[in-house]
Amino acid sequence: MNNFIFENATKTIFGPGCVKEYLSCLVKKTAQTDTVMLAYGGGSIKKNGVYEEVMAAMQRAGKTVVEFPGIMSNPTYAKVQEGAKLARENNVGLILGVGGGSVMDCCKAISLAAAYEGDIWADFWARPGVIDFEPLPLIVVVTAAGTGSEMNGGAVITNEALRVKTGRDYPKLNPKFALLDPTYTYSVPKRQMISGGFDTLSHIMETYFSAPDEPNVSDDIMEALMRGVIRDLRAAIKNPKDYTARSNLMWESTMAENRIIKLGKKCDFECHQMEHQLGAYTNCNHGEGLAVLHPVYYRHICEAGAKKFARFATEVWGIQSEGRSELELARMGVEALADFIKQIGLPTSLRELGVDESTELKAIANSCACVPGAYKVMTHEEILEIFRECLL
Ligand code: NZQ
Ligand code: ZN
Repeated sequence: MNNFIFENATKTIFGPGCVKEYLSCLVKKTAQTDTVMLAYGGGSIKKNGVYEEVMAAMQRAGKTVVEFPGIMSNPTYAKVQEGAKLARENNVGLILGVGGGSVMDCCKAISLAAAYEGDIWADFWARPGVIDFEPLPLIVVVTAAGTGSEMNGGAVITNEALRVKTGRDYPKLNPKFALLDPTYTYSVPKRQMISGGFDTLSHIMETYFSAPDEPNVSDDIMEALMRGVIRDLRAAIKNPKDYTARSNLMWESTMAENRIIKLGKKCDFECHQMEHQLGAYTNCNHGEGLAVLHPVYYRHICEAGAKKFARFATEVWGIQSEGRSELELARMGVEALADFIKQIGLPTSLRELGVDESTELKAIANSCACVPGAYKVMTHEEILEIFRECLL
């Protein structure tokens, strides 16, 4: 194992009924003033009963609620600034984010922007910064599994003016508390449930396919998690109210991004770099963009990382190794992933995400960072090739 320091400042409460049981008490203990900003997305929480449960808890906590609705998927920097302004004007002492990754990420950035005089994009997203002050405290109630944003300090924000979508992970932005009720995810539309599940799988793969490759605890945990996501996603597609599957998917999502599996690992995340920039230009769905890119990207790096891709084939997909060369197995692992993507109904071409020859693929490719984590460092030319192959 490589060296590491581990800390996770988010206290996580998991299980049906957790909002009813714990939220008001956690709000009372965490809020710095009498006013709480309730931030949410496009309104799903008003249709599935979550809003009422949260508001009842606010009433029990004796708090005034300022609402901040309308956080969009792929949250923008403009939305962050709007939220920070509202928080300042109302002397908000706690942000309560209720939603999926977009709401949680936007809230983390608001918690920072509300407590900072300068431009947080320039000082903390355009380049890494040092947070030497206290952001507004944040509690999150998770309604959709996938990003794992609830138990980390990561926030992926789109700067529309600059056409850049990028994330930073600041431990100071970890939510103070995360409440995870798997039954809240029952109402997530099937397409989003599958996209979220694939995002989780992607987070694990982007960590797994990186050094070190000698036996290590992180890779062992990841193989179990990948097998779990594949099993649970299949079960949840068959029966969206399968509690075992939905609760596992929710925790697998958290486990993939709460830093535990990254311990001692170099991490890749080139596929995320590519998807984020596609998102910045096209606003495509995150998990679906990843699903199109992953097999194509892995065909490009499979030979360089053959040993690990072969292990992926046998340990995750159960492919028999006898009589097969390492490279053969490695390729079979990538194709098993591609088949799974097809089977669960995810898109397999960028065309399905509204991308075509008129999309500025070259500009998007050139705007991607080429990160050093994988078995082969991409060039902008190779990223463009990958995008073009994703159009076939
Ligand atoms: O906005 P509402 O009306 O709530 O509807 C949302 C949205 O339309 C809906 N939804 C969520 N919970 C629901 C529900 N609908 C019915 N019932 C429920 N219980 O789902 C749709 C998608 O929500 P969104 O939050 O956008 O999806 P997701 O959780 O996939 O988050 C995506 C964002 O997170 C970023 C992505 O780039 C993207 O911007 N990521 C954040 C990461 C992090 N912080 O660690 C890591 C990821 O790699 C990712 O980049
Ligand atoms: Zn992701």
